[in-house]
Amino acid sequence: MELILSLFTTFLFLALSGRCSDKNDFPEGFTFGSATSAYQWEGAFDEDGRKPSVWDTFLHSRNRSNGDITCDGYHKYKMCRSWWKLAEMPSDSPFLRLGLYRVRKVLLIPRVYSSIRTSFKNSIEPHVTLFHYDHPQYLEDDYGGSINRRIIQDFTAYADVCFREFGHHVKFWTTINEANIFTIGGYNDGITPPGRCSSPGRNCSSGNSSTEPYIVGHNLRLAHASASRPYKQKYKDMQGGSIGLSLFALGFTPSTSSKDDDIAIQRAKDFYSGWMLEPLIFGDYPDEMKRIVGSRLPVFSKEESEQVKGSSDFVGIIHYLAASVTNIKIRPSISGNPNFYSDMGVSMTWTVLGKFSAFEYDVAPWAMESVLEYIKQSYGNPPIYILENGTPMKQDLQLQQKDTPRVEYLHAYIGAVLKAVRNGSDTRGYFVWSFMDLYELVKGYEFSFGLYSVNFSDPHRKRSPKLSAHWYSAFLKGNNTFLGSQGITQLQSNFSSSSFS
Ligand SMILES: *[C@@H]1O[C@H](CO)[C@@H](O)[C@H](O)[C@H]1NC(C)=O
Ligand SMILES: *[C@@H]1O[C@H](CO)[C@@H](O)[C@H](O)[C@H]1NC(C)=O
Ligand SMILES: *[C@@H]1O[C@H](CO)[C@@H](O)[C@H](O)[C@H]1NC(C)=O
Ligand SMILES: *[C@@H]1O[C@H](CO)[C@@H](O)[C@H](O)[C@H]1NC(C)=O
Ligand SMILES: *[C@@H]1O[C@H](CO)[C@@H](O)[C@H](O)[C@H]1NC(C)=O
Ligand SMILES: *[C@@H]1O[C@H](CO)[C@@H](O)[C@H](O)[C@H]1NC(C)=O
Ligand SMILES: *[C@@H]1O[C@H](CO)[C@@H](O)[C@H](O)[C@H]1NC(C)=O
Repeated sequence: MELILSLFTTFLFLALSGRCSDKNDFPEGFTFGSATSAYQWEGAFDEDGRKPSVWDTFLHSRNRSNGDITCDGYHKYKMCRSWWKLAEMPSDSPFLRLGLYRVRKVLLIPRVYSSIRTSFKNSIEPHVTLFHYDHPQYLEDDYGGSINRRIIQDFTAYADVCFREFGHHVKFWTTINEANIFTIGGYNDGITPPGRCSSPGRNCSSGNSSTEPYIVGHNLRLAHASASRPYKQKYKDMQGGSIGLSLFALGFTPSTSSKDDDIAIQRAKDFYSGWMLEPLIFGDYPDEMKRIVGSRLPVFSKEESEQVKGSSDFVGIIHYLAASVTNIKIRPSISGNPNFYSDMGVSMTWTVLGKFSAFEYDVAPWAMESVLEYIKQSYGNPPIYILENGTPMKQDLQLQQKDTPRVEYLHAYIGAVLKAVRNGSDTRGYFVWSFMDLYELVKGYEFSFGLYSVNFSDPHRKRSPKLSAHWYSAFLKGNNTFLGSQGITQLQSNFSSSSFS
């Protein structure tokens, strides 16, 4: 625990150096940090009045590994009270009515992105995401959750309480995490809660992949806009904060040099990013999407369009992967009812490497740069926070202490962010996913993304810094001796012979 705290207390937010960069290259105020999410880290799934979330229901019913205990962060956070100095919730808050849990403890916050800035010396600047798709099960049971427009008013009420109670401490609010992936996973593929779909080859007991992804995407956009409005009216000026939405963004490369694949890339961008971003920036969906999805795509009324437009102060980007894109000629007679992917009309191959272990992601910093460039050029250069970036390795405590591939990945991607910033992108922050190993939402405990490892066999869930934790810490301190490949090798050899853990 001391090491965790010392990592944090030694963070300086201004830091970057090395061959392609210098610590002064990132603009002053650029934030670095790392991220976790409540369900994936907390555990204590049935304590202190916590009601089942959709993840509990989804995973328990499938007899899969789950977040019942995971890092046991809920019990351990007390040891880190100094960085959880957020207000305690009053017990009569509407959270109780909404059934959102843990009202007496700060951990009701579904996710906290922590970073340190010199202006908050020895403390942490939290970046909070309100909804990490872990809403109470009873909202599903009551009225179908996000498929029902009632989610808009309930989410707005929830957000309003968070702004009121925590807004003096929290200056960066993200309303909804990866709104696109949540929607596709939960309503097109059925691989995440609430597990609804009708796509061929999937196994969902209910759902409609032709329509529901678009309805849910629409409702979430309206929920975001509706929550942003009271923030801007009542809190923003007084509290001096900002609010945004996050999306999962892939870097795309054509699988052949054909014109079709090139056009397919634009369609993939429209469906993945434009779907989320164009309403926020221009007040409506991309034309190509409207043309293809037709009457299945909900329509913004004039008033809604105005409310959604301009409802984000920043765009949160979650980026891990590149995908190679092939155009598909849509053949409805074969594919049956259309779904999100057949509408998009592309097939994608993720670029995942097997270099170090089968779990690692390809180091493709161009993909990060292209995402940032695309948003800059297509959407008027809005402020961006990269809320997640990182690479998994196989969950193996021995291997993890020497997570050189993670160091190389982070080094390359931070370099890509710097390149985009230098070329005018208004990117303002970067957070490594994840602070420590935790329950990964699709891959469970197989994948390890953390800067710290957690011994999940140990009842105390002992944490140990990995090589990447030392590297990131040194990087943030502006110590460029760690940055070159020689530095990494040296760090690794110093680290293996030292007595950390
Ligand atoms: C659940 O999974 C465990 C471990 O894979 C297995 O031992 C157990 O029999 C399973 N239970 C059910 C009800 O399928
Ligand atoms: C679909 O899921 C149900 C319920 O879990 C299960 O009984 C059935 O065997 C599954 N079918 C396929 C094709 O996987
Ligand atoms: C999905 O909804 C559409 C529009 O209501 C309908 O035409 C289609 O048959 C539905 N598909 C399924 C699988 O229920
Ligand atoms: C840099 O930005 C300019 C202006 O937006 C753009 O035309 C150019 O392609 C960008 N360069 C790179 C390497 O992305
Ligand atoms: C993890 O914890 C278990 C149980 O306490 C212990 O036996 C094991 O040695 C630990 N593993 C490592 C790599 O520390
Ligand atoms: C940078 O790291 C080296 C090697 O560990 C250390 O000797 C030096 O004091 C560090 N410099 C700073 C500014 O932290
Ligand atoms: C590794 O240790 C040596 C000897 O203590 C020191 O000179 C060097 O700066 C260290 N390098 C790193 C990257 O920590």
